[in-house]
Amino acid sequence: IVKKDMYRPVYHFLPERNWMNDPNGTIFHEGYYHLFYQHNPNGDQWGTIHWGHARSADLVDWEHLPVALYPSEELGELHCFSGCAVLDGEEPKILYTSIGEGERNASTGAEQWLATSRDGMRTWTKHPQNPVMTTSIHGGIDIREWRDPFAWREGEDWFMVVGGAHEGKGCVAIYKSADLVSWSFLNILYADPSVALCECPLFYREGDTYVLIYSPGKTVKYVTGTLAADYTFIPDTEGVIDHGSWDGYYAPNTLVDGSGRRILFGWMPEASRENFLPEAGWAGVQALPRELEVTASGKLAMRPVPELRRLRGRSSGLADLIAEGESVRAGIEGRAVEIIAEFDLAGTETAFGIEVLRSGDGREATRIVVDPGAGLLTIDRSRSSLSPLPRRTPVTGRYEPADGRLKLHVFVDHSTIEVFGNETACLSARVYPTLALSAGVGLFGDSVVARLARFDAWELSEAKS
Ligand code: FRU
Repeated sequence: IVKKDMYRPVYHFLPERNWMNDPNGTIFHEGYYHLFYQHNPNGDQWGTIHWGHARSADLVDWEHLPVALYPSEELGELHCFSGCAVLDGEEPKILYTSIGEGERNASTGAEQWLATSRDGMRTWTKHPQNPVMTTSIHGGIDIREWRDPFAWREGEDWFMVVGGAHEGKGCVAIYKSADLVSWSFLNILYADPSVALCECPLFYREGDTYVLIYSPGKTVKYVTGTLAADYTFIPDTEGVIDHGSWDGYYAPNTLVDGSGRRILFGWMPEASRENFLPEAGWAGVQALPRELEVTASGKLAMRPVPELRRLRGRSSGLADLIAEGESVRAGIEGRAVEIIAEFDLAGTETAFGIEVLRSGDGREATRIVVDPGAGLLTIDRSRSSLSPLPRRTPVTGRYEPADGRLKLHVFVDHSTIEVFGNETACLSARVYPTLALSAGVGLFGDSVVARLARFDAWELSEAKS
């Protein structure tokens, strides 16, 4: 079936129309996962930023709710930038970055604002004491690009991290409060001299380990470690949340649900869609929610939430593979598919892998390439689209073999590709195949079938959103 818009995902969350960027204020409350998001309700480009809102009981089907936060024009507010939601007793509260008039320059004029809801998070009232924080809180310390608060409770106290830039380097600052209204600055928690700013910091504790995640205008990073008494973070292990970088996966947010699971949400931006399909009417997709766990080595393991299995339709396995000249075809095809393939890495060092969104003649295809010699996993977009306009730079990251094997878990949804390699190497990308028949699923590489310990592929059905 050729849909009206063959790039619109069918089982990922996106608004009915118009622009979406970062997930905001993700929170589990009264049996629902609430997702707020950076939203321009007036067009499919970044514009006057509101907070859109949706909820889900199972992280698969989503229900759209009315826009939650509007810029308060009467107060001179222009944008409601990213932030978090917390429960203060039974009362939900949002902390977010307000960009106002006279502060058009987000690099120096941001403020942190508080809002409260008394109707189950549908409508929000901004606190009369806003701004609850301005940059003057830092005394003599100059912090720019100051935005995206993330708060949590520990005992009787509230803590919050906010991202920024200090002396031209990315930093995350930490604050404390007794009531979410009156805040004090504790310290610069962490600085990363290799980046110019840190957006959307997340900070939480799992067991004895602290986890810091931030979006530095390029690949989203994480660091695990400990917290010193002076509120500086002592890093131990670093890693990459997703090798998709700013045009594939950005600005994640997190929550803990009723069963104690840590879930990560993230934004998949369009890759050059603006010039490719200027009148799409929508832009931006939420990546599949991931379960997040600190492993014994201090790395983060990430896997798509198991709830997604409900979408599985027609399946095909190892026995259904069909050799066809140079390539191998799976027994199913489609533009909404899931694949699990487990490869034995022993033997040759030549590249092999999975092909998706392939046209019958192979002119269009996106390859997930395993390079066992280099230990690299790549989404090769060089032949993803016959159009020269979409971005085609490869998305690459290092994988860690497990017992000489690599398990790839792949999700394709029209213009999105998400790859999980042994749960620690995640790659996300956007692709825009032009041919309606570019829906083939298969494998490539010398003796690729002989390497397979497992191959399962499913057609996935639509979710509600
Ligand atoms: C990250 C970001 C945030 C900011 C928001 C504005 O994508 O730049 O730092 O709050 O988007 O929409």
